[in-house]
Amino acid sequence: MSNSPTQIKLIQPDDWHLHIRDGEVMKDVLADTARQFARAIIMPNLKPPVTTVDLAKAYQSRIESNLKSLGVSDFTPLMTLYLTDNTSADEVRKAKTAGIAAFKLYPAGATTNSDAGVSDLKHCHAALEAMQAVGMPLLVHGEVTSSEIDIFDREAVFIDTVLEPLRQQFPELKIVFEHITTKQAAHYVRDAATGGKNTIAATITPQHLLMNRNAIFAGGIRPHNYCLPVLKREEHRIALLEAATSGNARFFLGTDSAPHAKGAKEAACGCAGCYSAFNALGLYAEAFESVGKLDKLEGFASFFGPDFYSLPRNSKKITLIKQAQSIPTELPLGDATIVPLRAGETIAWSLV
Ligand code: NCD
Ligand code: ZN
Repeated sequence: MSNSPTQIKLIQPDDWHLHIRDGEVMKDVLADTARQFARAIIMPNLKPPVTTVDLAKAYQSRIESNLKSLGVSDFTPLMTLYLTDNTSADEVRKAKTAGIAAFKLYPAGATTNSDAGVSDLKHCHAALEAMQAVGMPLLVHGEVTSSEIDIFDREAVFIDTVLEPLRQQFPELKIVFEHITTKQAAHYVRDAATGGKNTIAATITPQHLLMNRNAIFAGGIRPHNYCLPVLKREEHRIALLEAATSGNARFFLGTDSAPHAKGAKEAACGCAGCYSAFNALGLYAEAFESVGKLDKLEGFASFFGPDFYSLPRNSKKITLIKQAQSIPTELPLGDATIVPLRAGETIAWSLV
């Protein structure tokens, strides 16, 4: 393939990190994702969080009934459980049998709805041992939460103080370092020694490939560009773009599309999360094209995720064309509205 095409065909991608919430608003955000992706890893940070197999099954059936009422029959939600200080080894084994795709580690207080998260990984020893034994992936929100650590350093400090010790202790545990935002994380994942095993990978969001931290303060405060982990300096964006477009199978697509109503973002204490689901594939195509690496998009978007999770790759193909699409200034979200990423602007690539 030439690296300046006007049309690209690829095996249909999956989204390996997604928030679709619950209740009224779920249908609206699910429709955007299901238009583009075949599967998505559904984050469990509801209120209250999805901590057990029974709660995940109930959530899954609410998702399925929304899909049904949208008339969607070709989208599969991959369910996850929220790890807590009290998750038992039995629940992990039960989850494996029930087809739960992964557990999610939120350090307590790290991000939206993480109050019930893990206070110290030492409480999770039995659960982690069971995950390692049954081959259950652990997805990590990789930030320390101590208020003494500068917000821009929280990911790098997490690597040294939590992730590396965790990998030493559980060398066979499959870990996805979610929504990485720094050069340190990209290099850590790239260089990690795994003895040839598939034990570490990372997801990367469109906003972290396309924007640096200036975007939060461009001409005034921009709440819709605020997410966690927060956007970083340009040198980090460049390192992420290099990792995503390198063809290294340890890096794959995870939008972290995280819907919050307009009023919850445009507030004195605005919520963290960017809504990228509306045209996520167009955003990724733009990022890959910016470095002449559109030929690497299919591996990142469609192959490396299922390979890591030991799931079959999709077979259906989709087409992206270079045709500008305007992004609406607002979209419906239940009885409120949501402001999508790049609202009111145009994106060069669209899904046919
Ligand atoms: C996410 C959310 O709103 O659920 N927010 C975000 O900024 N990414 C939580 C998360 O993934 O950290
Ligand atoms: Zn997330």
